Amino acid sequence: MNSVLKGKNVLLGITGSIAAYKAAEIVRLLRKRGAAVFPIMTSSATHFVHPITFQTLASQKVTLKLFDKNNKQMGHLSLPRLADLLLIAPASANVIGKMASGIADEILTTIVLATEAPVVIAPAMDHGMYHSPILQRNISKLKAAGYRFIGPEKGDLASGEVGMGRMREPSKIVEYLEKLFQSRDDFLGKTFLVTAGPTRERLDTVRFFSNYSSGKMGYALAEEGGWRGAKIILVSGPSSLTPPGGVEFYQVESAQEMYDTVMDKFPQVDGVLMAAAVSDYRPARHWQNKIKKESREKLVVELVQNPDILKELGEKKANKILVGFCAETKDLEKEARKKLMTKDLDLVVANDITLEGAGFEVDTNVVTLIDGEGKKEALSKRSKREVAQKVWDKIKWLMEARKITREMT
Ligand code: CTP
Repeated sequence: MNSVLKGKNVLLGITGSIAAYKAAEIVRLLRKRGAAVFPIMTSSATHFVHPITFQTLASQKVTLKLFDKNNKQMGHLSLPRLADLLLIAPASANVIGKMASGIADEILTTIVLATEAPVVIAPAMDHGMYHSPILQRNISKLKAAGYRFIGPEKGDLASGEVGMGRMREPSKIVEYLEKLFQSRDDFLGKTFLVTAGPTRERLDTVRFFSNYSSGKMGYALAEEGGWRGAKIILVSGPSSLTPPGGVEFYQVESAQEMYDTVMDKFPQVDGVLMAAAVSDYRPARHWQNKIKKESREKLVVELVQNPDILKELGEKKANKILVGFCAETKDLEKEARKKLMTKDLDLVVANDITLEGAGFEVDTNVVTLIDGEGKKEALSKRSKREVAQKVWDKIKWLMEARKITREMT
């Protein structure tokens, strides 16, 4: 069987859930595709399935303890390094909670913290636990940090009830992993510029005009793009976020500085994702010293327009991909379609910032994607990292569609 999983080292974390027996099938399917599987069991998991099952199927010693006097190698140091991926299936509410809090009190959660490999989580639990607001908050936190989830699904539960909480079927989980590995090459050899955060327009030495953008959407796009093989140039306005590893990073302050950096880099990129909330205006004059209130009853500040970076990119885009963002408080679709046209964009990510869980500062977003042909996809509320995944999926689709058109003409 020719699979992208061939030769990959997959760490399989098994936690305390009745679905642990299904993890045996995951091992079998992964090995059939040529992956090496390293099982790691929490002590609760061993109440459901004996480690010998996993040892036999994986042909590997099962890692059970953080401190193993018979093992000279420190498992929590060696395993994370060799991993191409860490899959936790089944993932109990308890382990999800620990991961979301950065607790590393046994071997599996220690490896989660130590590894730089992608982590995929397949939850399995009773529906009551799954719907608990605390668990949902933990899941959101992990998603925002870039952890990926598959499932759970609705179905028969161990309690005899029917509800949400069943682990996805092993074949679906393995299919998902194959897609995930494939997607890591999606943008290999391509360079994309991503802008993020607000801009600051100086008034005097201590004051500025700005907006509430945190940079979260742009940073999520940069991280996801890098994850999928693209070289990323991130141009960010002031943000408290740490730039993702591996990106070429430029910190700017004003719209004019962002304009200069973007224009300088534009010739070398295959596309631009303009997620920054660029200030449309700046003060016409910049006071050299701090403005004092004495002697002024009123302060009238004249604002002049900043350059529209994206519009100018649209004028010189040739065959580069341009993605714009459109944050509105009314007439969202009308405004988004207008920007698509006037700025000659390939894709607009539109969001109504009045909705709960959308817009500035929060970890989630509710967006509609509208492409250059007018096709529209409305996405339900999800983490900004998941929105970023959808945006890159769409860019890939647009690039492939273009390639097909070029080949046909
Ligand atoms: N944008 C830009 N340069 C500007 C203003 C906006 O490149 N000076 C980009 C944003 O990064 C975003 C898109 O244009 O991707 C739309 O920004 P938005 O502020 O919503 O729209 P505007 O075009 O400025 O129009 P308006 O504010 O009047 O709706």
